[in-house]
Parts: sequence; C-alpha cells; structure tokens
Amino acid sequence: MTEPADSAMPATPASTRRWPPRLQRIGFGGDYNPEQWPREVWADDVRLMRAAHVTLATVGVFSWAMLEPKQGAYDFGWLDDVIEGLHGGGIGVCLATPTASPPAWLARAHPDSLPVDRDGVRLGIGSREHFCPNSAAYRSAAAGIAGRLAERYGEHPAVALWHVGNEFGSTVGRCHCDSCAAAFVGWLQQRYDDLAAVNAAWGTTFWGQRYSDWAQITPPRAAPGVVNPSQQLDYQRFMSDSFLACFMGERDVIREASPGVPITTNFMTTNCRHLDYWRWAEEVDVVSNDHYPTAADPENHLEVALAADLTRGLAGGEPWLLMETSASAVNWQPRNVARKPGELRRTVFSHLARGADGTLFFQWRQSRFGAEKFHSALVPQSGERGRVWQEVAALGADLDNLAEVRGSRVAAEAAVVWDYESMWATELEYRPSVDVTFRARFDAFYDALWRADRTVDIVAPTADLSGYPLVVVPSLYLTTAAASANLRRYVAGGGCLLVSFFSGIVDEHDAVHAGPYPGALRDVLGLWIDEFAPLREGERVRLDDGSVGTVWSEAVRPAGADVVRTFADGPQAGGPALTRHGVGAGEAWYLSTALDTGDLRALLATLPAGRDASAALPEGVETVRRVGADSSYRFLINHTDEDVTAPGSGTDLLTGAAYDGDVAIPARGATVVRESRPAGA
Ligand code: GAL
Repeated sequence: MTEPADSAMPATPASTRRWPPRLQRIGFGGDYNPEQWPREVWADDVRLMRAAHVTLATVGVFSWAMLEPKQGAYDFGWLDDVIEGLHGGGIGVCLATPTASPPAWLARAHPDSLPVDRDGVRLGIGSREHFCPNSAAYRSAAAGIAGRLAERYGEHPAVALWHVGNEFGSTVGRCHCDSCAAAFVGWLQQRYDDLAAVNAAWGTTFWGQRYSDWAQITPPRAAPGVVNPSQQLDYQRFMSDSFLACFMGERDVIREASPGVPITTNFMTTNCRHLDYWRWAEEVDVVSNDHYPTAADPENHLEVALAADLTRGLAGGEPWLLMETSASAVNWQPRNVARKPGELRRTVFSHLARGADGTLFFQWRQSRFGAEKFHSALVPQSGERGRVWQEVAALGADLDNLAEVRGSRVAAEAAVVWDYESMWATELEYRPSVDVTFRARFDAFYDALWRADRTVDIVAPTADLSGYPLVVVPSLYLTTAAASANLRRYVAGGGCLLVSFFSGIVDEHDAVHAGPYPGALRDVLGLWIDEFAPLREGERVRLDDGSVGTVWSEAVRPAGADVVRTFADGPQAGGPALTRHGVGAGEAWYLSTALDTGDLRALLATLPAGRDASAALPEGVETVRRVGADSSYRFLINHTDEDVTAPGSGTDLLTGAAYDGDVAIPARGATVVRESRPAGA
C-alpha cells in the first residue's frame, strides 16, 4: 500500500488580523444608503441610529456612479456631509469601495469590462456585479476610485473599517471572456511551468484532449459534453484567485493612504460556491461574513450556527464581523417568511456566541424603489411604529451591555473539516451518485454535533488538529498529500478521527489516488474499498444495530481495521459499515453509508471522544462558551416556547441578575452569563 508523502508542519495562514481600534463597543448597524433619500432624512437617520445604539454604518457600497459620474470627474461633497453627519452623532463609518457596481460609463467605454458567461453571452448593465475580474480597464478604474476614497477619508476619525467591493464572486462567479482566457494561461504557466505538466495534471490523454501549444487552452466554455474535470477545477481556482487579485489591488492602494484602518471584504462563507475562502482569509485584516438563513426553515438556527462557526474558523478563532444579515424577511427566497418575534435577537446572539464581535445588517432604511424594496431593514417602511424597529432598538441597547465580551475566544471541543476545493470537485459531473454532495454530508454531521451540544471549530484539512479530542471529516473527496499526512499525524498523536464515505478518493487534480480507494486515507483507516455500491433514490439499508443508511454503500475490505458494524441488508449485506483502526496512540473510524441525524448522534456518542453533552440542557437550547483573559461567558439561546433553566452560576450581563446553580433562559430568548467560576475550574 502506498504511503502518501509526509509533508512538513501543516500550513497556518499568515494572518494580518487587526480588529478596528476605533470600534469600542460591539459593532451594530448596517449598510447605509442615504443617496436614496432626500437630505432631510439624513438627520433623522442619525437620530434613529443613536436611539438604536448603532455603532457602525457601512457607507458607499453601491455609490460609484454618484461619486464618479464621469470618468475622472468626482463628486465627494455629498459623502463628506454623510460622513460628517455620522461622525457628529458618534457613529463609526465602515467605508466601502463601490466597485461591485461599476458606472454605466465604464461598460460603454470598455465593453470588454463586462463578464461573459459559459455560453459566450456578454452580460449587460442595469443590475450589479457586471465586471470581469481580469479586465484591465475595470481593475484600473476600481483601484482609481478606491485610491481617491482612501486619500480623502483615510485619516478621517470616523472611519473605523474599510469594506472593499461587495461579496466578490457571489452572483457572477466566473467569466469566460478572452481576457480571462489569456490570464488563465498565465496562471497555468505559473502553477505548472510547462505545458507537459498541464497535460499530465489534466489527464489530457483521455478523450484526446492533449494540448501542443499554450494558445490552444481556453476557459471551460460551453462544449458538446462534459468538460475535463481537472480543467474545470483549475479554472475555479483561477477565478477565485482573479477575484482575490481585484480585492488585493484595491486593498493595497487603500493601505498606503490609510495604514491605520483595517480592511475587510464581506465573504459569504457558506453560500458563495466560487471562492476558496481559506486563501482569501489570509489577505483580510478582519474576516467578515454575510449570512441570510432560509427563514421558512423552522430550524434555521442550525444554519446560522454553522455559518458562524465556519466564519470563526476562517478568522483563525479571532473575532469576526457579521457584515450583513436581515432584520426580518429577505426578498429573494421563494417565500420570504418574516422573522418571528424574538428571532432576530436569537440570530444575533448566536453569531455573537460563536465569536462575532459585531453584527450589521442589509440595510439601515428600507428602500422605496429598486430591486430590494421588499427586503426588510432596520428602519422598515412602517418606521418607528413598526415591530421590527422596536426589536432593533431593544437589541441595540442589549448589545451595549456586552462590550466586555469583545475579544474573548470560543471554546470548542471538536473540529469538523471543511474544504472549498473538495466541495467544488465533489459536485462536478459524472460522480457515482448525485445524492453525494458536500453540504448534505457536512450538514448531517454538524446537526448531530449541534444537537449533542458539542461546540465545534470548522477547520481546513491542513489545520493544526493536535488540540482536538475529536476530528470529523464528513466529506473530503479531494484529499491532498498534505491533508492526508496531517490527518494521519493527528491520529498517531492520540486523536480520534471519524471519516465519512467518498473521502480520500482523488488528488488536487481530480485524479484518483493510485490503487484501491480511498488512496489518501487507506493507510490511516486500515482498509480498502473494492467497489462503490451507491443506493437507488430513496433506497434504505439497515445496519446490524438497527440504524438506517441511505445514499451509499460500498464493499469495504478491512486491512488492519476492526469491523464495528455491518450492513444487515442491501447490496453489501454482511459487509462492514463502520470500522475502527488503531494507529499509534489514536484511532480512525470509517462510516460507509449516510445515517440520519439521530443515528449519527448515537454513533458519535459511542466514540471515545464523542461525549453527548445535551443531557444537561433542555432540547432546543444552544449553549456556547467564550473565554476571555479574566472571565468566561456563557451564551444560552432558547429556541423553544418554554422558559427553561440550565445549570450554571454567574451574573446575567443583560439583566444584572445573579444566578447560583440555575440560569434562567426565557422562551424564545437568550441569556449571557459572566461565569462566577472560570471555565474548567
Ligand atoms: C447581499 C448583498 C446586499 C443585499 C442583500 C439582500 O447578498 O450584499 O447588497 O442585496 O444580499 O439580502
């Protein structure tokens, strides 16, 4: 059996993390678009912001056409007034560069600044995100306006944070134009050096795709059938890097003129499928995220928790900022269910519990016109009379009481591996089953851990895992040699690893690791797979302990691993379904089918490091601990309709109540306790 090459210590991102020194309280506020309103409203905005204890307003996200109405002709007067108004009201400014929506003059002067889709259609203006990330005209115009803003406002005392662009790559994740084609070749030359290496990496001997000249290589455009998967994967990496280069171009001009102010761009950590945020996170001063849960899902708090944990993972455990969420309904889901009373508050507390030091919203005042007029806002169409406003103002007051929590770190007891590249690769065409998706597997394990009351860190496959008693790999189809070595090192050092099926299959080029599956994990798992046996749609198989598998089964052949559970029926009846392999001081477990949340939770509880802590708490109550230099804080969020108590002692930061043994958490509410005994004491 081939042992994957060991690599040096796992890569840790070179963080430039800097929290805005000017943000003295918990960040609270939102996108502020005063240009949509007459000036009389601006003074009222500041009054209302003060009433709601707003600390930070994001200005200018889509203002390019207002700031530079003609190329090289600027109008900053109105923005001067907006910033002065906010500053006068004691409200910090998160100053955005408006580069997510270039003005119409750019497209007219440079039609090739517009993106081209896979079918060769050049997209038009009239919406937003209409730019090609490799257009020289776009890049230079974007750096131009960013530089002007930085020169003018870079040292303004109100400016607490820079916000570059908006959700890079979220709507138009790929461009296929000729500029991108040329830049792709340059990117490949850097990555592979020579064309023979590209041919080898892409396996171009298959279907006769061999390239004999760099000029023959194109983006994966519309083609008669499935396009080479390795090429698609490299193109996705290249696109992520192209958008990152746009961000860095703007960041660098801003940094020069405004060195004291940290710089961010808003990620969509769980929802943007086009960017490799592990790479992006290395380049921002503050990790910030936009997250809008599916409000129609009564259990959307799980999705909130997952997004928050992933964002904290990207921030390397340091404080992060929720840049956008909605006060109530969004306007782009099929049924835009309004948040129920109290839901806004619980959502915000969940983000804070999981490491956010601020939560902002899209947007401050609900628009009267344009595409998003039915999207909720902190100030709704109904104004101060509205329920949403009442909840917003009360929330702002609550957040003022949490200032001391800032900077504390979330205490996690397990890690779950998340990898964007593997997600991309898993979901390319021609896989063994359309039912195998990265998110379905990840969510199943995350839900089981959430319900077992285990706070988890979400980590990259090459992260330092040594501190975690339990590491779960729900879906890692693409496993590099470095990831493989890292997981092995973790187990050998005494860790408990649980791997789910269809992991360790291909390398970074989407080529199957040599020999039987799962080549990158055979050794640590102590088994090999003779053949995949995916299940039919809706088919269920039973395991010998009564649990039920769906989606997948396979012919597992132990090679050192012990068989813990077998399939009782289905295509692999009698064969291993769950195995355990001792390696050094630790053990590696392997599960070869998809269990539902209940069965997964039971399985996790049987692992040596799989403690189910939920017994201490009523079902539906979420609890997370943040540990600071002098105190620890316990966030308790009650998603049920009953008032409940949980064991614990300390001071309620929101009400001042003292708890001795039992902490009260109101129905549909949240409690934050400064614990009287430090965590673990
Ligand atoms: C975000 C975007 C905002 C707004 C919001 C609506 O993705 O950044 O500008 O459109 O969605 O939910």
